Amino acid sequence: MRIDIISVVPELIESPLNYSIVKRARDKGLVDIHLINLRDYAANKYKQVDDYPFGGGAGMVIMIEPVARCIAELKSQRSYDEVIYMSPDGELLDQPMGNALSLKQHLIILCGHYKGIDERIREHLITREISIGNYVLSGGELAAAVVTDTIVRLIPGVLGDETSALSDSFQDGLVAPPVYTRPADFNGWKVPDILLSGHTANIDKWRHEQSVKRTAERRPGI
Ligand code: ADE
Repeated sequence: MRIDIISVVPELIESPLNYSIVKRARDKGLVDIHLINLRDYAANKYKQVDDYPFGGGAGMVIMIEPVARCIAELKSQRSYDEVIYMSPDGELLDQPMGNALSLKQHLIILCGHYKGIDERIREHLITREISIGNYVLSGGELAAAVVTDTIVRLIPGVLGDETSALSDSFQDGLVAPPVYTRPADFNGWKVPDILLSGHTANIDKWRHEQSVKRTAERRPGI
């Protein structure tokens, strides 16, 4: 899979995608992530990519020309499954959406910044709009990093233990059960006996029951 992320501040996305599981996936060649600076597609020598909004008002708006030029260049090299725009009013990200996106080959993710992007970009160049929650970030970069992390860990081969993503919260409509590690007794705070029993079938049953209980308590709607 290849993900091209377009931004005016690509530095904001670098670090979250350069560590841990995503880093390992990149090193193994399971995902090819490119951070593209929109300013490299600016028309003038000032590298201008934003301008005042027509009709007035506060804030700057990302211009259509650099975005169109950047997307056209990418599309001339390969075909894309989706051209995603990160926006607080987009479709809400959830685990099923992550699963579906992890099966795609080529994705473009465009990050907004400032007041937003020229609406004609959304109308004509974007195929999908995604939000990571009902709150407003300073730009789409952190949201793009969240979407990318969600997708990458679901690509087959990325997680060492293939079953590991399957036991994630939300994967089967349930949140994950509690986990414990040594010591078995910390100042009288004990690990449930069942986990020390060695009875795999009983442990699986207990974990499932815990998941069901937690889901009912914390996410009754899912
Ligand atoms: N850009 C700004 N806020 C956002 C959000 N909540 N989700 C996606 N993109 C955003």
